[in-house]
Amino acid sequence: MLTNKYDIVIVGAGLAGLRAAIEAHAQGASVLIISKLHPIRSHSGAAQGGINAPLGNHPDGKDDSVEKHCFDTVKGSDYLADQDAVEIMISSAPETIYELEHWGCPFSRTEDGRIAQRPFGGAGFPRTCYGADKTGLYILHTLYEQTIKRSIPILTDFFVTSVIVERNTCYGVMGINLVNGRLETITSRAVIIATGGAGRIYGKTSNALTSTALGMAITYWAGVPLKDMEFVQFHPTGIIYKHILMTEGCRGEGGHLVNKDSERFMQKYAPSKMELAPRDIVSRSIATEIEQGRGFVARDGSGYVHLDMRHLGEAKIKERLPGVRDICLDFLGIDIIKEPVPIQPVQHYTMGGIDTDIHSATCVSGLYAAGECACVSVHGANRLGGNSLLETLVFGKRSGLASAKYSLSNKNQTQASATFIQSLSKFYESNFKKIINSQGTEKHAQLRKQLSETMDKYVGIFRNVPDLKIALNKIGELKERFKHLSVPSSGLKFNYDIIAHLDLEANIDVALAIILGALRREESRGSHSRSDFTNRNDKDFLKHTLCYYRIREEPRLEYKAATITKYQPEERKY
Ligand code: FUM
Repeated sequence: MLTNKYDIVIVGAGLAGLRAAIEAHAQGASVLIISKLHPIRSHSGAAQGGINAPLGNHPDGKDDSVEKHCFDTVKGSDYLADQDAVEIMISSAPETIYELEHWGCPFSRTEDGRIAQRPFGGAGFPRTCYGADKTGLYILHTLYEQTIKRSIPILTDFFVTSVIVERNTCYGVMGINLVNGRLETITSRAVIIATGGAGRIYGKTSNALTSTALGMAITYWAGVPLKDMEFVQFHPTGIIYKHILMTEGCRGEGGHLVNKDSERFMQKYAPSKMELAPRDIVSRSIATEIEQGRGFVARDGSGYVHLDMRHLGEAKIKERLPGVRDICLDFLGIDIIKEPVPIQPVQHYTMGGIDTDIHSATCVSGLYAAGECACVSVHGANRLGGNSLLETLVFGKRSGLASAKYSLSNKNQTQASATFIQSLSKFYESNFKKIINSQGTEKHAQLRKQLSETMDKYVGIFRNVPDLKIALNKIGELKERFKHLSVPSSGLKFNYDIIAHLDLEANIDVALAIILGALRREESRGSHSRSDFTNRNDKDFLKHTLCYYRIREEPRLEYKAATITKYQPEERKY
């Protein structure tokens, strides 16, 4: 067991983690970034379409403002977003983009050299700044360069398995160092969890294999509630069979959604915004077209519609959407210049996550969270495309600032007691031995498949009590079967079977939080669409769900009011 001491340990090296590290370092804190992956492999790099800021650089965007961006975000969230948090995020948006520009981020440009902006869903003006269709990758490289410039240490191939919390105070993390196969303790005055989303609870997801729920789960297991987990975003356009994202930028640049009768069906569902209605509405519209027999049928029996970009022309596609063109060529053999693309909605984002305040602090002292794994909440019941990259940077920075203030003003803070750390580490050592030596008959791959199929089928775009109860029972079965898992390979050195085992446990527990939240929320709001409660019910549900983990009992749900400042809830029309 090794013990190191840092002011701040950051778990996760995507955009939120890297931005947190840069800020904490600027404040004079000693920082260690820990990641299971090399930073450049983080799922942030898969973000395509762009990052929102009301810069007014587009000819149609001259009247844009912070105020209008805030309103669009709150309306898009179906009024569940906390409006104080939204104002913080959006008033910081312009400086956030210019900072990236000054750090050398290669944004696409207007004719006169300003940062180019494109239209995105639910936005009153074209305000999504982009770098072709590789915006996340460009920002990721930019931030990684900045961490190198500052010599911020990054420990990769390290898999954090728990946070050290004693007397409601966090003192560091424990995890498996995959390189040497040892269970290690890294102590610190503060910890920031920045592990991204949990899309891999689902099967049909745009998320990378690494986007599991473990970062959320270790915080949840340590006593921090998960907030609003029932709000799961389905992106309207994932390519058939592979579920890889076709950026909203395809529609922002003018792409059409067309059913099997060659109809631009969004006319019926969102006559004014059409394909650029918010994602929850577009995904429901596609699902309805398919359910009512106006979609195409794929060879795996699933339904799809077409995303048609042929009319954009070769030059525009090659300049603005080269990445999605390559994806379609490589994975489907389709050239989007010449053919429409078969698409269907896929899980894309978790609006819910670790409950934090506007400083990214959780209810455990010294424990912070930022980015997709956290829920401040700036997205409420439905996130607008382009607001997630903004959130990672604004709240990544804020978490770096708040945790640095905390740890630097607590320099003399007593550490976790040695006996506590020893007993925790003994517990995990014996737990890993038990996992490795288990003679159980169950295999993690089978259980993972059952979990993701259950979530795809019963906790998807449309929900109802019978389906959610089936899902609940299946999770109960999975929890039981999980006790009989065996791991094919022994030892901890690069043992990805152990990792899959831990990820599975986390995914099951977080899936349960999603299902319970969805069952209890008897209304339709944003991405949570109940076919048995079709209306939004502000009287009873204009509030956040908080889900608390309990070891031997079902999780406990509580609620807290959403923060309303300027914008009173209205009916959403697009
Ligand atoms: O469609 C996209 O490019 C995704 C953007 C986002 O999720 O914000």
